Amino acid sequence: MAGGGGPLPTARVTPATPIAATAQQNWAILGATAATINGAVGASDDAPVNGNVRAVFDLVRGLLGAVPGVENAFTVVNDVYDFAFEDDGSLKADIENELARAAAQSGARLVVAQYGQARLSRTRKLSQDSPDVVATGITLWPASATPLVAPWDGEIEGSTLRGAEYELTLSGVDALASGSVRAGERLADAPAGARVEVGVRPVGAPDAPPFTRAELAPAWLALTRDPRPLLGLPAVEVRDAGDLLSRRDASFAPVQEFYYSKPPQIERGKRHYLMSTAGRTYLDMVNNVTMLGHAHPRIAETAARQLRKLNTNSRFNYASVVEFSERLAGLLPDPLDTVFLVNSGSEASDLAIRLATAATGRRDVVAVREAYHGWTYGTDAVSTSTADNPNALATRPDWVHTVESPNSFRGKYRGAEAVRYAGDAVQQIERMVADGRPPAGFICESVYGNAGGMALPDGYLQQVYAAVRATGGLAISDEVQVGYGRLGEWFWGFMQQNAVPDIISIAKSTGNGYPLGAVITSRAVADGFRSQGYFFSSTGGSPLSCAIGMTVLDVLRDEGLQNNAARVGAHLKARLQALQDKHAIIGTVHGIGLYLGVEMIRDQETLEPAPEETSAICDRMLELGVIIQPTGDHQNILKTKPPLCIDIEGADFYVDALDRVLTEGW
Ligand SMILES: Cc1ncc(COP(=O)(O)O)c(C=O)c1O
Repeated sequence: MAGGGGPLPTARVTPATPIAATAQQNWAILGATAATINGAVGASDDAPVNGNVRAVFDLVRGLLGAVPGVENAFTVVNDVYDFAFEDDGSLKADIENELARAAAQSGARLVVAQYGQARLSRTRKLSQDSPDVVATGITLWPASATPLVAPWDGEIEGSTLRGAEYELTLSGVDALASGSVRAGERLADAPAGARVEVGVRPVGAPDAPPFTRAELAPAWLALTRDPRPLLGLPAVEVRDAGDLLSRRDASFAPVQEFYYSKPPQIERGKRHYLMSTAGRTYLDMVNNVTMLGHAHPRIAETAARQLRKLNTNSRFNYASVVEFSERLAGLLPDPLDTVFLVNSGSEASDLAIRLATAATGRRDVVAVREAYHGWTYGTDAVSTSTADNPNALATRPDWVHTVESPNSFRGKYRGAEAVRYAGDAVQQIERMVADGRPPAGFICESVYGNAGGMALPDGYLQQVYAAVRATGGLAISDEVQVGYGRLGEWFWGFMQQNAVPDIISIAKSTGNGYPLGAVITSRAVADGFRSQGYFFSSTGGSPLSCAIGMTVLDVLRDEGLQNNAARVGAHLKARLQALQDKHAIIGTVHGIGLYLGVEMIRDQETLEPAPEETSAICDRMLELGVIIQPTGDHQNILKTKPPLCIDIEGADFYVDALDRVLTEGW
């Protein structure tokens, strides 16, 4: 099973303040006091309060607080849905009622869904429109038939009780009384298990729709009131969701930038979808790290099981480090048979460089311009992407030698001429030898991910690898982005070039978001590291890392994701190329499989990049429900690298949204 509906959580009424670890405990949290609930779910699930509504009598008098010290109202917050997603990444249409019934069967006397909350149960995937998700009232599910009483004196008109200050609207109840009622008199009956919508607004305010779009919510919430105090429950505490960004800025080094000037708050994901706390479901076109899809149940199960069993380090003797290393080596051609396990792509590429310098006894390294290999001292030195560091080219240490970016679209050599890049790089390597500085190695992404998913010119790696080896240096392939099946036809990027490197670095997909990287090389190169002492990484190769790494490989195989990358990637590229014929701003569509780049230009002749347009297009795509971001030195390429589980429907949604933006403007 690729995702889990699974059995519904059962609920117990409990006065305790439990920890959310399992579905059952999660429901238990919901049975705790409202203050606990608010603390447990965080700011974004909290609704604003515009002054508490005062009631003379509880609407559901006597229903709550029947057991001293125990609150028998379950408040439905979005956390309850986390265990209820279907395999296709959606929630069942009837999920709210189903969960409420389950809670009632487990002892809840009343289930209450919050006011002002964006309810994930109402979200829609693959929708260009913002859904009506924010509740302008509350929903009640009483476990037994419940008389509802007037909370204040008033006049009944249809489904509304108008008091001196507020109007109360009920739907889903057996007929309301009519005429005048006094506080405490019977108003209506809520049948057992019924779904009752309760709205409160100041007298004279317009009738609010029960649910509204997140964009309109502030206005409708200003015109309505939280009905919870009518149940004897405290109104929900106010917290500003925008507050999170200023708190982030205050505590988290701001140099760690975030996507979008007004980013949605994303707390949940499933497959190739991301859900915001504002109740929007986005198509995720950028997360190549979570290759298998978000919140994959098999990864979650593996991690939970292993954490309960053992997590130590590779100085101990356990099977998984051997099994995972064997499996990685088994995926590679000879002589790549020896594995180092680390925690990230930066560490992996850094170690790859250290291995090359140790094995050759040299210090100079050749790297390709417009590249990114990581943030460590060593990988930063060989990273020349000006998008990541505007001063990159001027600040390289003397041991780094860069060759021209083999960009066949806008570089020095274009189209058929692009084969000349290899010759230039070879000459540069030969000059280094002549200068008495033969390189320890040459590092390059085997498909040019950072430059927008561009394939290297035919024969490029074969020629440059041969030249570097002829001097006694080593070839390093950074497979952090493009390896692991993403290219569809090829498991590794270097296969597309028909070349075999001496060292490869991998990460990102390797752990599906769990920090896990590896370097794989030949036994001879690995042994060369002995000159540096020994190698140890505390969590690299831990039982947990290895268990997750192996489950990632299992799922990749079992779900046929490499084939899916080939099939959906081919469809996606063909559709994007068709868009190119329609919209002059698309200069070209780079890439292979599910690593594609849509390059935006202002002029077909000069190829002037269109970075401002690309940024605005990304913002508009977000409004239409798609997460996509720019890449490349000019920030004018839509980096299109979704989780490999994306389907044709998702790919079409992306292209249709892009077509709409390019047609209507941004
Ligand atoms: C090609 C390449 N190599 C290395 C890295 C560094 O990986 P990490 O962020 O896991 O340290 C990245 C990260 O984006 C990358 O794209």
